[in-house]
Amino acid sequence: MENTLGSFIKSSVNMKPVPVIGLGSGAAAYTIAKALGIEFKRLGVKPGAVPSSSQIKFLVSDYYTMIEPPVSGIDIVIDGADEVSSTNNYIIKGGGGALTRERIIWEMARERHVFITKEKISRKLSHPLPAEVIPFAINLVQKKLDELGLKWQLRKDQKGYPTFTENGNMIIDIAYANQDDLRPVYEKVKLLPGVVDAGLFIYDVHLHIIEQQ
Ligand code: A5P
Repeated sequence: MENTLGSFIKSSVNMKPVPVIGLGSGAAAYTIAKALGIEFKRLGVKPGAVPSSSQIKFLVSDYYTMIEPPVSGIDIVIDGADEVSSTNNYIIKGGGGALTRERIIWEMARERHVFITKEKISRKLSHPLPAEVIPFAINLVQKKLDELGLKWQLRKDQKGYPTFTENGNMIIDIAYANQDDLRPVYEKVKLLPGVVDAGLFIYDVHLHIIEQQ
């Protein structure tokens, strides 16, 4: 576990060549991406960055040149998380609905840096597992989840309308409290027709504890 934001920023700006940055979404990703961007700007450098959402793209476009995912990959990903296990390398993501692009960025990255407040670390994960589902399959996926004995909720906005991801898909939040291990649940969900991805991320990451997001 690492809590050295200063040393992360220092080592990132000193990388040669200038690193390509993957930008996750959410408050923590924004805070850290901005802090790093300010330091790059001070040095007169504008690195290329792959954004996982238009939220992060618009928030930090002063500091980075936004690019498509490059064939050569991504050097460093900066991201947050919804919950992190203290007993294994399981991480829940997707509370902001950007999980599919975040996964792609994580897969392409040589280093993954996750920034969370300490309240997000748990012995037993309980944050619902978000699944991104193409709208055409929404009824099928809900029926299959029922058959698997999983409780679920279609994600809605404050007015009660379904929310849509930037890929034009819907999100189902899945409860799994009675399951010992989330991985088999994730694997079953991910195999359902119409599920694009689900938010269990199993990776070795550099975990940074921050005071606030
Ligand atoms: C976006 O889809 C999520 O994976 C976020 O990274 C996660 O929800 C953490 O966001 P906050 O830093 O805003 O809590």
